[in-house]
Amino acid sequence: MAGRRALPQADNKAKRRIGKLRKLIEHHNYLYYTRNSPEISDREYDRLFAELESLERHYPQFASPDSPTRRVGEKKLEGFPSITHRIPMLSISNTYSQSEVREFDARVKKLLGTTKPIEYVVEMKVDGVAVALRYEHGGLRYGATRGDGVRGDDITPNIKTLRSVPRFLENDKKQTGTVLEVRGEVFLNKKSFERLNKEREKEGGPLFANPRNATAGSLKLLDPRITARRPLDIFIYAVGETDYKLPRTHWEVLKMLEQLGLQVNRNRWLCRSIDKVIAISEEWETKRKNLEYEIDGLVIKVNDLATHKRLGTTAKSPRWMAAYKFSAEQAVTKLKDIILQVGRTGAVTPVAILEQVFLSGSHISRATLHNAEEIARKDIRIGDQVVIEKGGEVIPKVVEPVTSLRTGKEKKFKFPERCPSCGSPLKKSQFEVAIRCENIACPGQIKERIRHFARRDAMDIEGLGDVVVEQLVDKSLVKDVADLYTLTLDQVTSLERMGKKSAQNLLDGIERSKSRPLHAFIFALGIRFVGVQSARLLAQHFGSFERLQQCRLEEIETIEGIGSVMAESIHAFFSTSSNLRVIEKLKKLSVVPKKDTAAAPRRAEHPAFANKTFVLTGTLALMARHEAQQKIESLGGKVSSSISGKTDFVVVGEEPGSKYTKARELGIKILSERDLLKLFESV
Ligand code: IVH
Repeated sequence: MAGRRALPQADNKAKRRIGKLRKLIEHHNYLYYTRNSPEISDREYDRLFAELESLERHYPQFASPDSPTRRVGEKKLEGFPSITHRIPMLSISNTYSQSEVREFDARVKKLLGTTKPIEYVVEMKVDGVAVALRYEHGGLRYGATRGDGVRGDDITPNIKTLRSVPRFLENDKKQTGTVLEVRGEVFLNKKSFERLNKEREKEGGPLFANPRNATAGSLKLLDPRITARRPLDIFIYAVGETDYKLPRTHWEVLKMLEQLGLQVNRNRWLCRSIDKVIAISEEWETKRKNLEYEIDGLVIKVNDLATHKRLGTTAKSPRWMAAYKFSAEQAVTKLKDIILQVGRTGAVTPVAILEQVFLSGSHISRATLHNAEEIARKDIRIGDQVVIEKGGEVIPKVVEPVTSLRTGKEKKFKFPERCPSCGSPLKKSQFEVAIRCENIACPGQIKERIRHFARRDAMDIEGLGDVVVEQLVDKSLVKDVADLYTLTLDQVTSLERMGKKSAQNLLDGIERSKSRPLHAFIFALGIRFVGVQSARLLAQHFGSFERLQQCRLEEIETIEGIGSVMAESIHAFFSTSSNLRVIEKLKKLSVVPKKDTAAAPRRAEHPAFANKTFVLTGTLALMARHEAQQKIESLGGKVSSSISGKTDFVVVGEEPGSKYTKARELGIKILSERDLLKLFESV
């Protein structure tokens, strides 16, 4: 079996230095962000950081997702220090039907190589805001938001206003450990939410759309005295970083948390098989309406903790849990009007203007109608009573008209022939349903491109809201995204309701955006089909903007996760002269990132890996499983979850599952973790 073996001396030294540097950087991060009292200069800090980056490049076997170099710093809220989650706060993969829940169960069994029933815990999926609470020596040290999963905001003063968060743990003395980080959901129950909105209405303040938004808003208040007036509550559902001795099952962990005085939701079930899970999901589909708080589904977790380890996690979510999302709720309301919206790529889409209704926790007055064909096919008319639907995070949509409620006064919608923003004739290509405005100088398109560019997950320009964008474009101060970087204080102050201070803040925000990482910049460009994840893949693959810009179509197509339609769109983007002009301007203004600090260095394919299929089994001791996977893939190999005749290598970690036995039976070459590291090093 692959145990830890002695490392050669140079490796050992590098490993120690890397560990030391990470601790040092963490320490200085803490002093800088949390204590607001740095002990070293920025320059010294940068030097430590650069040394760590260089060592990690030379010794990729010691890379770690927890390293400070890996943090893709989504910006913290102004006024709150940052907290690093040493164990990232991941998300959950969703299922939407009973058959998908069964597929999840089948996948778990397959990965474990068993046909026996799996024991699950089912919990309520409360629709609130995820937080991490850290207790040290039994006392609450901090409370933090999830943030981007790795870095969140330290919101301790606000968390301390929650009555259900104990300052000190009970019976903690029985424990041997000193650190217990727990995770849970802060929420506002339905009644408190409505009361809060009523008060706001009286005071003439803006209303919160749903309890989740109200919770998030309350946790982000800079004055905890106001937070204290909002009756926020919490359910704890998991343990993060800890040195406590944990019991063997999740069910017992929840009990342990309760005994420590933490509030755990009583609505939870231990299920001996997936059938019981399904029965509960059916029951709660309707029963949820009677709960005092909003839930958007159930969470299904494998009970046995050792099995969690065996199943591991994907880059996004643990393989041992799934969310079951309830089906979308529907409502009927009046379609008052249909307006047209011009998107950043020129697509002109119809939007339904509705009589406001309350649906799944939010007030809805707009919904998507997708395209002209759909309006015609469903015969949706202005003045109709329409069924609208909202599922989870998605924008509400118009499902169909209720024709039995027609009065005869409804009007058919005629799609205009000219762009509502610039008046150019609209075109419909034979290849797609969208109708487009092909004028790249169309103000409607420019506004959308700028809004997209400024998004939090793109260039993250604070203060560049809709109203400001509207004015900047209408006054011709900005004709493309590069013009943002030449705005002067006088120009910005000339906008309506813009004081000197806000104007300066906006200019500062624009300036700060120049240090966004490469993937954020690529996403910000608004290339059709390129979302946040694909932008990350591109940044990782190319490592620099220049390489991406000059790439050949064939190279983009080889990137795992980038399909041919997206590849063509990327290629077309960089072959369009108007885009190149803007990029040149951005380069001159130093907006284009030099290299991607967040991305792994790119490597060419290597014969030892190219087209070889690897299966990883057991716990890897020296690197994270997803790192091993990423690296194999970056060298041209594939990683598969099951063994077949096509498997070339099985990498065996500690406590391997049945795959190890199967690999031996099939005579497949077996590698220890160390063997794999050596292979990496030989490249
Ligand atoms: S476990 C890997 N248990 O749902 C994520 N999450 O959509 C671990 N949530 O970010 C979360 N109730 O904020 C877990 N009983 C529950 C939950 C729960 C609500 C939230 C949580 C998570 C989100 C994912």
